[in-house]
Amino acid sequence: MALEGLRAWKRIFWRQILPALGLLGLFLYGLPKFRHLETFIPMGVCPSATVSLLRDNFTGALRPWARPEVLTCTPWGAPIIWDGTFDPDVAQREASQQNLTIGLTVFAVGRYLEKYLERFLETAEQHFMVGQRVIYYVFTERPGAVPRIALGPNRRLRVERVVRERRWQDVSMARMRTLHTALGGWLGREAHFVFCMDIDQHFSGAFGPEALAESVAQLHSWHYHWPRWLLPFERDARSAAALTRDEGDFYYHAAVFGGSVAALRGLTAHCALGLAWDRARGLEARWHDESHLNKFFWLHKPAKVLSPEFCWSPDIGPRAEIRRPRLLWAPKEYRLLRN
Ligand SMILES: *[C@@H]1O[C@H](CO)[C@@H](O)[C@H](O)[C@H]1NC(C)=O
Ligand SMILES: *[C@@H]1O[C@H](CO)[C@@H](O)[C@H](O)[C@H]1NC(C)=O
Repeated sequence: MALEGLRAWKRIFWRQILPALGLLGLFLYGLPKFRHLETFIPMGVCPSATVSLLRDNFTGALRPWARPEVLTCTPWGAPIIWDGTFDPDVAQREASQQNLTIGLTVFAVGRYLEKYLERFLETAEQHFMVGQRVIYYVFTERPGAVPRIALGPNRRLRVERVVRERRWQDVSMARMRTLHTALGGWLGREAHFVFCMDIDQHFSGAFGPEALAESVAQLHSWHYHWPRWLLPFERDARSAAALTRDEGDFYYHAAVFGGSVAALRGLTAHCALGLAWDRARGLEARWHDESHLNKFFWLHKPAKVLSPEFCWSPDIGPRAEIRRPRLLWAPKEYRLLRN
């Protein structure tokens, strides 16, 4: 009898568990076909008690029920902005009434400048906060190489010199320190709200005032369906960025974050300190400044979360729930760019 039971178990194992593990493996290693399976993992539903409480300073009433197939609010009651959940005209009007100046910072260091800056700025002119007062802040070690772009009325470009770090990891980590200093000085005096973005992407749709809030985090397009325990948070308990298996809400992408000047001062100070703390111990978090950003947003919940429509990776391919991507990542060419 016992032998019979064992045989039955073996059969189950071979027929079901192994293929399931195999599929999971293929899926995690990014075969595009299998990645589509993840859309079947439900994101959860915004509870109706929260729906009625969702407020936004820029879009008037939100319509979180307009997108029942995706999660439209966070457990702490912040909206997750998807296409169709807001009225872009109301957002435009609200922001214009408040007479805001919106900053957009980008780091153009090394070969990233020639490769990406021009397209980033040209597409930002077409799509980023059109109709608002915008100041671009380009941080680069070669101000002379910044291309001249025709800017619309009420839009300006400032170029700030930074020193070139030796390794790309250091470039990415020095960003927090540099931003913190700038936000405490001229940038912080000129702008009310600021977005900080990676340069290796371009705008492909309207990125308007519906994205503004006290603090704004971007859902990572590769991970927004994944269960929490699989998310690539820093797990080394010695790191300042560490999160345990029970911690973390969502995995946020460091390619886009934003907020008021005061909120971003806090965010950049936290991340710069964490990075310095780790370095003093000879550690480097798994995803560098992104790991520290995720720790910050775990401790200080963002007031607004942007859906992956705001920053999409074309490598994943089209998905029905991604209606209108606002930013598209460029294909990664690390070997070429980072040396
Ligand atoms: C809007 O802000 C700009 C720049 O900060 C300022 O020059 C202008 O006077 C303001 N307009 C109104 C109506 O407050
Ligand atoms: C809306 O504005 C109030 C007052 O300025 C602020 O406390 C709150 O955090 C803002 N809400 C969002 C979502 O940014």
